[in-house]
Amino acid sequence: MCGIFAYSGPKSNAPETVFEGLKSLEYRGYDSWGVVTQPGESSLQPKSLVVKKRIGKIGTNNINELPSSHIAIGHTRWATHGKVTELNAHPHLSCDGKIAIVHNGIIENFVKLQADLRASGHKFVSETDSEVIAHLLEEERKTSDLPTALRNVFSKLKGLNAVIAMELNSDTLVATTNGSPLVIGIAKGEIYMASDPSALLPYTTEVIFLEDGVIAIWSENMLRFASTKTGKKLEPTSQQITWKAQSAEKGAFAHFMLKEMHEQAAIIRSIAKKAESNSNFDYKKLADRIKKARHCYLVGCGSSWFIARIAQYVFAKIGVLITPIVGSEFLEAAPALSKDDFLIVLSQSGETMDSIKPVKLAKKSGTGIGALVNVPGSSISRLADITLLIEAGPEKAVATTKAFTATLMHLLLVVKAMDEKLFSKLDFNKVAYGVERALSTAKTTQLDRLAKKFQNDEHLFCLGRGVSFPVAQEAALKVKEVSYLHAEGLAGGELKHGPLALITEGTPCVVLAPNDETYADAISGAMEMKARGGFIIGISPQTHQVFDEFIAVDDLGLGTIFLELAVVQYFGYALAIAKGLDPDMPRNLAKSVTVG
Ligand code: M6R
Repeated sequence: MCGIFAYSGPKSNAPETVFEGLKSLEYRGYDSWGVVTQPGESSLQPKSLVVKKRIGKIGTNNINELPSSHIAIGHTRWATHGKVTELNAHPHLSCDGKIAIVHNGIIENFVKLQADLRASGHKFVSETDSEVIAHLLEEERKTSDLPTALRNVFSKLKGLNAVIAMELNSDTLVATTNGSPLVIGIAKGEIYMASDPSALLPYTTEVIFLEDGVIAIWSENMLRFASTKTGKKLEPTSQQITWKAQSAEKGAFAHFMLKEMHEQAAIIRSIAKKAESNSNFDYKKLADRIKKARHCYLVGCGSSWFIARIAQYVFAKIGVLITPIVGSEFLEAAPALSKDDFLIVLSQSGETMDSIKPVKLAKKSGTGIGALVNVPGSSISRLADITLLIEAGPEKAVATTKAFTATLMHLLLVVKAMDEKLFSKLDFNKVAYGVERALSTAKTTQLDRLAKKFQNDEHLFCLGRGVSFPVAQEAALKVKEVSYLHAEGLAGGELKHGPLALITEGTPCVVLAPNDETYADAISGAMEMKARGGFIIGISPQTHQVFDEFIAVDDLGLGTIFLELAVVQYFGYALAIAKGLDPDMPRNLAKSVTVG
């Protein structure tokens, strides 16, 4: 969940380069941050690497006091072991201050390792599991060079970990991983390392995604790879990232979340265009596997799970039963997998540990795996048999918006590859236009006003029926995630089975009422809530007297869900802004949830 960035090369502003890299990775973790580099000539501590760490977001901090140097590594933290303190922030140093490490993952056996190191005289300054790596390296380094030391240390660590290390008076960077993402960015005479390819875009598009069990060694202007276990030389091939540097920047928008919502219309158009020309996307391959499967499972976490739930309704419309299961529950909820089953995993980041576990189980069981992911080269994209890159471009806001839309659209196109009829009236260009209208100034002004009205409320309910039920759940997730207002997404029919008890005078109730077979029931639900004092915000192509506030969306059949989504995404954003919160980096969360 943490962000890692490293540089070694001819630039003398390595700390600054790393600091900028950290800013672009901050969405991966923002409890605290730190940068380590070589001491300057005038350093008071010439025998030790120099570190700057701070708690909180990078914000307006700087690293002016760090000396110029040609090598540096940095880290943004999402705390697992130990509170959010400067001492617990990475990088961590060995006792002699000559070795520094940054780490992403969890060292399952750190207690034992720490006890052994303490017994042999090592002093720990943090409560983290990560610090053991620096001390273990210090021990190994007595008899081996840094790459060999890291290989030996890595063999002692249990769990899924990624590590980068450097040492005093050397330009050597070493990095290895098993199960945590690390990308090597290759440029002439210099090297970049990061936990996400989007952070490398300002410098290079040529990358190598470090495979599990591979160590990357940059030393004396040479990049080498070897097996972490055996030391045997390896030659992984590099690939080009097609993302543009600007797509990872905020541009004129106040927040990434706002920018990413506004990118949705263009993404819909682009996917529709490519789908029409039949280029790139593997809809048919996925459709064939679904048709042949004994059971097909759709797996995802958080918003990706709600996409799976929407897809379930859409597949049902063509008579296909697929089972959505939330990633973290899959092992317990799914029956034993077999070769005849097919599992499709949905993951923007491609790194969500709770979604990787079912994928690994499927691999063991010989079950076919399809994946819809956004980040090229990510773990899930490499594990799947068929990977469909959703091509939404880098998504930086913790709350997903454009990746949700892109994934959902691709899934609809998979359904279309199985049965054209359902889509005879669905015009994605109209959907794109409808999303633009849903995010027009007129609409966002209306939603800003509502957000101000409800910013101090404690609860918000969102009601949907049929395919709009999981949209209502996604709406609630968006609201709670960025505005910290307790929100629940409900199936309309469930109201009278309990939740109605929570509706009191003025409770905000969002009602999704598309012009489909669920409209009448959606209105009944609105009536029931209104009768208990609820303030009804109707999102619908047609108004109704039960609505206290009406947010009009175009009537686009199944395509209306994309417009509902755009409205509720913006509403969540507006609530966060009304409350003075940062919607891009909500408290306690991180973009890539790489721990299970
Ligand atoms: O990268 P993934 O799609 O696997 O992430 C899954 C969830 O962590 C993610 O959708 C999360 O719920 C979002 N922050 C919601 O906006």
